[in-house]
Amino acid sequence: MGTKSPALVLVFLLLSAMASLCLAVNVTYDGRALVIDGKRRVLVSGSIHYPRSTPDMWPDLIKKSKDGGLDIIETYVFWDMHEPVRGQYDFTGRKDLVKFIKLVAQAGLYVHLRIGPYVCAEWNYGGFPIWLHFLPGIQFRTDNEPYKAEMKRFTTKIVGMMKQEKLYASQGGPIILSQIENEYGNIDWEYGPKAKTYIEWAAQMATSQNTEVPWVMCQQNNAPDPMINTCNGFYCDQFTPNSDKKPKFWTELWSGWFTSWGDPVPYRPTEDIAFGAARFYQLNGTLLNYYMYHGGTNFGRTSGGPFITTSYDYDAPIDEFGLLRQPKWGHLKDLHDAIKLCEEPMVETFGNTTSLGPNLEVTVYKTESGQCAAFLANLDNQTDATVNFNGNSYDLPAWSVSILPDCQNVVYNTAKINSATTIPKFILQATQNSTLSVASNQNGTTSGPPLSQWSWFHEPVGISSKSAFVLLGLVEQINTTADKSDYLWYSISTQINGNDPLLRDGSQILLHVDSLGHALYAYVNGKLAGSGKGSNSNNMASLEVPVSLEPGNNRIDLLSLTVGLKNYGAFFDLRGAGITGPVQLKGSSNGSTIDLSSESWTYQIGLKGEEVGLPSGGGSQLWVKGPVLPRKTPLTWYKFFVAPGGTSPVVIDFTGMGKGQAWVNGQSIGRYWQSDVSPNGKCTVTCDYRGNYDQNKCLKNCGKPTQEQYHVPRSWLKPFGNVLVLLEEAGGDPTAISFGTRETGHICSKVSEDYPMPLDMWHSNHLQSKNVKPTLSVQCPSPNQVISELQFVSFGNPHGTCGSFTHGRCRSKRARRIVHRACMGKAKCSFEVSVNAFGDPCANVTKSLVVEASCS
Ligand SMILES: *[C@@H]1O[C@H](CO)[C@@H](O)[C@H](O)[C@H]1NC(C)=O
Ligand SMILES: *[C@@H]1O[C@H](CO)[C@@H](O)[C@H](O)[C@H]1NC(C)=O
Ligand SMILES: *[C@@H]1O[C@H](CO)[C@@H](O)[C@H](O)[C@H]1NC(C)=O
Ligand SMILES: *[C@@H]1O[C@H](CO)[C@@H](O)[C@H](O)[C@H]1NC(C)=O
Ligand SMILES: *[C@@H]1O[C@H](CO)[C@@H](O)[C@H](O)[C@H]1NC(C)=O
Ligand SMILES: *[C@@H]1O[C@H](CO)[C@@H](O)[C@H](O)[C@H]1NC(C)=O
Ligand SMILES: *[C@@H]1O[C@H](CO)[C@@H](O)[C@H](O)[C@H]1NC(C)=O
Ligand SMILES: *[C@@H]1O[C@H](CO)[C@@H](O)[C@H](O)[C@H]1NC(C)=O
Ligand SMILES: *[C@@H]1O[C@H](CO)[C@@H](O)[C@H](O)[C@H]1NC(C)=O
Repeated sequence: MGTKSPALVLVFLLLSAMASLCLAVNVTYDGRALVIDGKRRVLVSGSIHYPRSTPDMWPDLIKKSKDGGLDIIETYVFWDMHEPVRGQYDFTGRKDLVKFIKLVAQAGLYVHLRIGPYVCAEWNYGGFPIWLHFLPGIQFRTDNEPYKAEMKRFTTKIVGMMKQEKLYASQGGPIILSQIENEYGNIDWEYGPKAKTYIEWAAQMATSQNTEVPWVMCQQNNAPDPMINTCNGFYCDQFTPNSDKKPKFWTELWSGWFTSWGDPVPYRPTEDIAFGAARFYQLNGTLLNYYMYHGGTNFGRTSGGPFITTSYDYDAPIDEFGLLRQPKWGHLKDLHDAIKLCEEPMVETFGNTTSLGPNLEVTVYKTESGQCAAFLANLDNQTDATVNFNGNSYDLPAWSVSILPDCQNVVYNTAKINSATTIPKFILQATQNSTLSVASNQNGTTSGPPLSQWSWFHEPVGISSKSAFVLLGLVEQINTTADKSDYLWYSISTQINGNDPLLRDGSQILLHVDSLGHALYAYVNGKLAGSGKGSNSNNMASLEVPVSLEPGNNRIDLLSLTVGLKNYGAFFDLRGAGITGPVQLKGSSNGSTIDLSSESWTYQIGLKGEEVGLPSGGGSQLWVKGPVLPRKTPLTWYKFFVAPGGTSPVVIDFTGMGKGQAWVNGQSIGRYWQSDVSPNGKCTVTCDYRGNYDQNKCLKNCGKPTQEQYHVPRSWLKPFGNVLVLLEEAGGDPTAISFGTRETGHICSKVSEDYPMPLDMWHSNHLQSKNVKPTLSVQCPSPNQVISELQFVSFGNPHGTCGSFTHGRCRSKRARRIVHRACMGKAKCSFEVSVNAFGDPCANVTKSLVVEASCS
């Protein structure tokens, strides 16, 4: 383009000034709806926490959210990341909050900004910067002047930034809601009478920020006006706000649950999330937010808990790697489309809910002008039902809700999934050529980089730093390290007389160590003697192991570790960690015990490799190369080069390793803990979606490492010369690590004759919709792929699930041929699910069409 004339520039400026004036939006609310510029709305929102993905992923995540039918993206603001040192702010890279919000705005979505600044979120220390803990006289989350001053300062800082960038709706920006505090009502009674004055202050402080958009306080029944109190939970249909002038909001609909090291992995069935969401909208619900819609990854040392895994996948509709989790994403998209068809009557009136029999409820939203939408619910967790409503008869599976945007035709039922299912797969990277896969370097199956590409460094056991210091007695860890590192060495040399009963009676000597948590390794005379660990439910770690001592000097080096700082509960900030004792040497015979707890200990914060910056290229003279790679050696750093292939998300499988941390090109991909295997017994092969869900109901990965695959963001990789650095604490075999990509595997669709009509037929056809049959579609995950193989096709009564379908007794002979002709080589194909298309292999049986395909 050539240069613009001054006149054109002027016109352009005028137009943009007018545009921004026109775009300024007035957001208010009443008891039924959020009112955006006079338009009453029922809305769908989803959580994406910007630091749990990388900026290059944001546009795609936001697009997939929009395509999934969201109106709003919700995020917390992470104080600890933005102000790591008091007064020094950081909004770069993954911390670029303004960029994230602008991308959401560009996609045409709104933002709910949950400032907190306490966020919980399974995030390190609940999002508080650790320096806050060291301010004199401070008490967190109560009516305490030093705390309130800091909370107000950070809130004002964030609101100021948003205003400066014109990001509030009142300025033409996307932010329509904002949150102060977070789930305080769950624990506020523990703070006594000051809890009430604190929450009143917080409300007043927020209001005084003059954002001109409504504020929310979640899980806070006594939220003062004009704060909207909202609900968080697996279900919130029975919630009512504390005033009939406030709309019913659900700020956290838990789409799954977080994962803790050593535990199985929770998941939540799609039909049950859809049921919970539909019930909420049925019973006067105005806005719900999926927590999480994309969970992402706890990179670095950001995970809280303690013991929260590096993956924060959360079984969300978009998986950790940014791929659609199907059918969850698709079935919820269909729900959102159905809700939008009901929006007009829903925002104009409240629902009128009546019983149609035991566990059967109908809700009608009917306007004076005659618009009508209805929800039919079967709350029974076992028995399907047939109900009569408005002169028609409707089948309602147990634990399901049907949606009728015209009070006649069912467009959606929460238990009938039209959407395809996909199975993700891990594709091991090609071996010979690339150095991506580091399989065995043994004879025969050689595949990884040549041994010459490996270097290693043995982290010294015990004190190696000049900054080590001596203190009398055992110290609490967080107060000591200020969370600069996971690691704190506790070191002591103890003189043991040859005549000491401990040595003299010749019995086994035990080293006993008690710790507040979270994990520890004990070295005696430079050798690993044992380890201990806590868990998310009990953080304390301890050990009692046999050790061999010599007459004379014996050195005991205890390495204590945090695994993410606590993020939840009253006074969580005061919960300590580290080896607070007792530490004892015990004879196995009675009486002979040496208690070391009150002796002089030497302390070192962090490891030598951290001090010299091995992960980011420092201390390069320390790396060693040689013909024999050390394996199963505790406290070893490893370094080698990797090169990524393809464009799909990159994954590392740490099989063979124990516990540690990993960095790619200096960026921490998080902690890994391959040796923490979840116990057997709590998992079930299938999980019945019917009945109340909680996080212990549906579990997977029993008997396996809690987390096996770790996400390496594409944007941290270069075409060549990528450096992977590992710190292995317990001892592992790095040559067993594999690299790969995460791809969509098989696609399965199953649709029955009795399923609701396709939603996209609704607008064009709804008058004669009785004749519209359900359809099944198969679509490749990427537009440049085509269907290349049909693993299974059946029209009849097939059994099984994606990956393991089998034919039933009733089966159309034509189905495979018809589907083959229509699908092979195409990116998408779809079929009417009816005997018109496939013939009738068995009368009086409700038939389903099943297609399992793969694309390439
Ligand atoms: C915003 O809307 C409310 C109610 O709809 C109205 O009372 C108020 O005056 C409006 N504010 C602005 C700035 O238009
Ligand atoms: C919906 O709101 C109306 C009006 O406040 C009320 O009468 C009705 O009971 C509410 N329904 C439910 C299920 O709470
Ligand atoms: C609610 O529905 C019932 C059953 O159809 C009806 O009898 C009642 O009049 C309705 N109530 C209102 C307030 O419309
Ligand atoms: C290995 O490299 C050769 C030549 O560069 C290429 O033709 C071949 O496809 C590659 N093999 C794999 C498995 O990537
Ligand atoms: C591995 O290969 C080398 C060289 O071919 C051979 O000398 C050695 O015996 C082999 N080792 C094993 C375990 O097969
Ligand atoms: C940390 O130090 C402070 C100040 O000395 C003390 O009040 C607090 O109890 C310590 N925290 C723990 C967990 O020991
Ligand atoms: C220690 O003494 C108690 C009672 O005196 C006895 O029951 C126990 O067996 C003794 N333990 C060992 C290890 O000798
Ligand atoms: C199913 O419903 C029955 C009766 O209401 C109840 O006792 C039972 O706990 C429910 N089961 C589940 C899994 O929710
Ligand atoms: C199907 O059901 C109808 C009515 O119940 C019956 O008349 C007919 O014989 C049945 N057909 C078959 C094939 O079972």
